[in-house]
Amino acid sequence: MSATQAITNVQVESDSTERIIAPGIEHAAEMWRIARDSVTLDLNPSYAYLVYCRDFSRTTRVAVVDGKVVGYVMGHVRPEKPHHLFVWQVAVDESYRGRGLAGRLLDELFSGVAASDDVHTVETTITDDNEASQNLFASFARRWQKAPMTVDPLFDGKHFPDNHDAEKLYEIGPIFFFDDELLAEVEQARQRAESLG
Ligand SMILES: CC(C)(COP(=O)(O)OP(=O)(O)OC[C@H]1O[C@@H](n2cnc3c(N)ncnc32)[C@H](O)[C@@H]1OP(=O)(O)O)[C@@H](O)C(=O)NCCC(=O)NCCS
Repeated sequence: MSATQAITNVQVESDSTERIIAPGIEHAAEMWRIARDSVTLDLNPSYAYLVYCRDFSRTTRVAVVDGKVVGYVMGHVRPEKPHHLFVWQVAVDESYRGRGLAGRLLDELFSGVAASDDVHTVETTITDDNEASQNLFASFARRWQKAPMTVDPLFDGKHFPDNHDAEKLYEIGPIFFFDDELLAEVEQARQRAESLG
């Protein structure tokens, strides 16, 4: 998907039955169920998913297949850094994994929020043992203009009261939208620079 396509398609059907949409409170229970079944995710109280669906629906997306929620990404724009989207959780039902769905959820969320909120950077935190999540965000960075990605310590084990693993901060961006022609010129310039060593 090109940047210009993405910015105009906040709600997209990637096949006849899959829809990626901003959630309503009726979707919160299924988000909670997916988080619970993932086992790897911290399970927030069901109340937290309800609050996110009510108050942060603009920065959250669910994937719905045949009327059932099969994946979600939830986040918020950081109050202290209004150009930064913090992605709190992304999860896909086990039976729908490996089909690019998490990537599509991130693409739809980012393109929508970049358009509505002038966001240019995505933040998330990942534990060292979550290779799937690391690859998901590295893949997102590559897809979006090969955006720079930095990894830094954020929440150490000692910050957590419950033996939680350390969470490192992944920052991807800045990612700016250009029209396709300009994007092609930028890519050509990048390739020329690379060939010059
Ligand atoms: C992480 C998760 C959301 C990925 O969902 P998905 O729909 O299968 O991911 P995608 O198919 O969009 O894959 C995105 C990229 O991640 C890679 N990836 C996905 N699952 C992977 C795995 N288990 N191991 C290694 N890489 C993986 C894919 O190869 C792909 O990379 P590519 O674009 O370079 O080919 C899913 O495994 C999940 O729900 N896990 C449990 C919850 C969790 O850990 N969430 C992340 C922390 S909030």
